[in-house]
Amino acid sequence: PATSLQDIVGHAKEYGFVFPSSEIYDGLQAVYDYGQNGVELKNNLKAAWWKAMTQLHDNIVGIDAAIFMHPLTWKASGHVDGFNDPMIDNKDSKKRYRADQLLEGKAEQYEAEGQSEKAKALLAEMGRLLSAEDLAGVRELIISENIKCPVSGTTNWTEVRQFNLMFSTQVGSVAEDSSLIYLRPETAQGIFVNFLNVQKSGRMKIPFGIAQIGKAFRNEIVARQFTFRMREFEQMEMQFFIRPGTEMEWYEKWKEARMKFHKAVGLPAEKLKFHDHEKLAHYANAAVDIEYEFPFGFREIEGIHSRTDFDLRNHQELSKKKQQYFDSDLDENGKPYGNYIPYVVETSVGADRLFLAAFCNAYTVETVGEGDSLKERTYLKLHPALAPFKVAVLPLVKKDGLAEKAQAIANSLKSSFRTTYDDGAAIGKRYTRQDLIGTPFCIAVDYQTMEDETVTIRHRDTMEQERVAISELKEKIGYQVAI
Ligand code: GAP
Repeated sequence: PATSLQDIVGHAKEYGFVFPSSEIYDGLQAVYDYGQNGVELKNNLKAAWWKAMTQLHDNIVGIDAAIFMHPLTWKASGHVDGFNDPMIDNKDSKKRYRADQLLEGKAEQYEAEGQSEKAKALLAEMGRLLSAEDLAGVRELIISENIKCPVSGTTNWTEVRQFNLMFSTQVGSVAEDSSLIYLRPETAQGIFVNFLNVQKSGRMKIPFGIAQIGKAFRNEIVARQFTFRMREFEQMEMQFFIRPGTEMEWYEKWKEARMKFHKAVGLPAEKLKFHDHEKLAHYANAAVDIEYEFPFGFREIEGIHSRTDFDLRNHQELSKKKQQYFDSDLDENGKPYGNYIPYVVETSVGADRLFLAAFCNAYTVETVGEGDSLKERTYLKLHPALAPFKVAVLPLVKKDGLAEKAQAIANSLKSSFRTTYDDGAAIGKRYTRQDLIGTPFCIAVDYQTMEDETVTIRHRDTMEQERVAISELKEKIGYQVAI
């Protein structure tokens, strides 16, 4: 049977990957905690991204900006006025829905019924109405499409209203003269406001990029699908600063580079696709999503946006500080390009969505054995570089010095790879424990080890075993755990 999201949620909790937040109080909707194995997998994904950006490109550097920013930042970025979701309430069930998601659901239904043209037309009409901020039109469309409330089953809808997604809080004591500030809804603005700091202090020349990994917060009204849509989440964003007029060239380059990254971390090509936006965000002149096929369908994991000079120009206007770059390169007439506000192509991926994609993709249930010994085997087929542990060292038995020998081997490996040691049960059971958390290599120490300094390596995916000298372990494992 196909993997359901419930299988994923259950496995993630049982094996220490993801827990509901504050679970003893029955959890907090759309907020999750990463457990002892989840944090390793997530850190490995973040490290892969950081390396792909800042180590493999000479012209990209990283920063780590604060979550709190001056309130005018969000005025300039358009989030105070434009970062809204169109919401609609059903009068009978008193349930609130995102109007665009109701329409997308209907389009998916048309698609499933083979009415692809109808689905496309509906999405195009929705995009047109939302871009024109025609909320009455959006409501009419929901009614004319006869979209029913999933709870009450009726079409008794209220008007459509916009809800801002930013969380706000106060700085300073409330009694004193405090001011309202926001929790950042995207990490990108921390990069924009530091554009000149980095450019000058790093003597960066256009084209160059600034990368950042950090938390972002959105008051998502409809929280669904596990870590796919959270209220507190993590983004990995990169703003690439370029000369105006070159944006389409860079947009295409980054589209390709980012797709390559997702394949490199182990997501299969057939589960990835590009999806052009029907409705452009307030800051973009071209935008595409990279989608992954989750158990609940193809959904966005990353956005690539051509943001023009929208952000820097608005920051210049509100801060009254020039956000210009002097380009000494020569144009076709032999004159320097001179001063301009750079254009930006952005790549923005959710660490939690990438985590969920990697986890769903790795989750494997297979039937093994034959005849009477037929059984199900569950394991995480993670890219070795992403696995929480790379190696488990397992003595066949505890006695006759095997445990000490295995511990010594584990100690010799652990500064190179995250290594675990386990002597707690029958060896088959210990292999299964490692399979369930995705450990790619299990090293068994047996009586032969005591004689000839060799061990067996058992490979997670094939369950095949090979005999290897202890002295060769580091090299043998090392080249397989890098991306
Ligand atoms: N700076 C551009 C920006 O923030 P976005 O498409 O709104 O663009 C980028 O978000 C990425 O952040 C998404 O592709 C997704 O992976 C992640 N993301 C956005 N909202 C999220 C949420 N509520 N929960 C988890 N991830 C989210």
